[in-house]
Amino acid sequence: MKKIAVLTSGGDAPGMNAAIRAVVRRGIFKNLAVAGIRHGYQGLMDGDYVPLGLGSVGDIIHRGGTILYTARCEAFKTEEGQKQGLSRLRENGIEGLIVIGGDGSFRGALQLTKLGFPTIGIPGTIDNDLACTDYTLGFDTAVNTVIDAVDKIRDTATSHERTFVVEVMGRNSGDIALWSGLTGGAESIVIPEAEFDLDDIIKRLLQGQQRGKRHSIIVVAEGVFNGNEIGRMIQERTGFDTRVTVLGHIQRGGSPSAFDRLLGSQMGAKAVDLLEEGKAGVMVGIQNNRMAAVPFAEALSQKHQLPLDIYELARTLSI
Ligand code: ADP
Ligand code: F6P
Repeated sequence: MKKIAVLTSGGDAPGMNAAIRAVVRRGIFKNLAVAGIRHGYQGLMDGDYVPLGLGSVGDIIHRGGTILYTARCEAFKTEEGQKQGLSRLRENGIEGLIVIGGDGSFRGALQLTKLGFPTIGIPGTIDNDLACTDYTLGFDTAVNTVIDAVDKIRDTATSHERTFVVEVMGRNSGDIALWSGLTGGAESIVIPEAEFDLDDIIKRLLQGQQRGKRHSIIVVAEGVFNGNEIGRMIQERTGFDTRVTVLGHIQRGGSPSAFDRLLGSQMGAKAVDLLEEGKAGVMVGIQNNRMAAVPFAEALSQKHQLPLDIYELARTLSI
């Protein structure tokens, strides 16, 4: 193998740049030429390729977003689109591809592997919604962004003796809500993986009031309920002065945490090593603090398991 390429696809996530840097530097260390494909699978099909040298990935380890840009591309879901992408890769002399993205991006990567092109995946999504890896790139930073916001909201919530509902991202997964709810000291956490129980939320709010609590924070995952709806229901049922904050895309940006920089560096290097060893169709993961390689088919056929013991712990600690 003499030349490989890397692309980012789907929603961006802090730490993607650290992974791109690691792919380029590990690749060059191993005497491989590395190309960057811009705008995800759209760029793959259009031939939007740029050579990446050692210096081109300098000064990016601490930056959020992705220097390669990202995109969603419907055309790549068709066999015609995939074959067009394959032709562009071969025309550019590329022999292996590293895809940084979420489960959708890995479905595309699996298709390329089935068409005979060696592809390796790096899980990059703030949602942490992939199976076979304990963490995805960007999740830790997103959780830190949320607790920073929750800490600030707590100040004003205390001053005004208000109840706040904070809606966080996560598509169909409650990981961001769970981890930020526990570490931000929320009174209740609403996630898709646990039954929504408004009576329980109200009961906890009233219990808190009885023991002198002057404010409360409820973290809600976007995949369950609209935060505004929950806020309205709480205000109606309790009469508490309630406000709602939808954090939105600030969770996707910002300088990656040390953990995400480390994860991106380790995963990027591991992906290059796997390609060099002749592996294809696998996702790099982190399992019990060690790098792992899992076939796409296996990772995509399983559902990510949210740690329900953490959910129970959060409930216990917020009584
Ligand atoms: P993520 O990778 O973050 O889950 P998406 O689900 O939006 O994001 O997927 C990103 C891109 O991956 C899609 O826009 C499309 O180009 C590609 N993709 C998704 N599903 C498939 C599929 N079944 N076959 C081929 N490509 C796919
Ligand atoms: O997958 C990451 C994510 O940020 C989800 O949490 C969210 O639902 C979605 O992407 C938003 O995507 P966009 O605004 O880019 O369409």
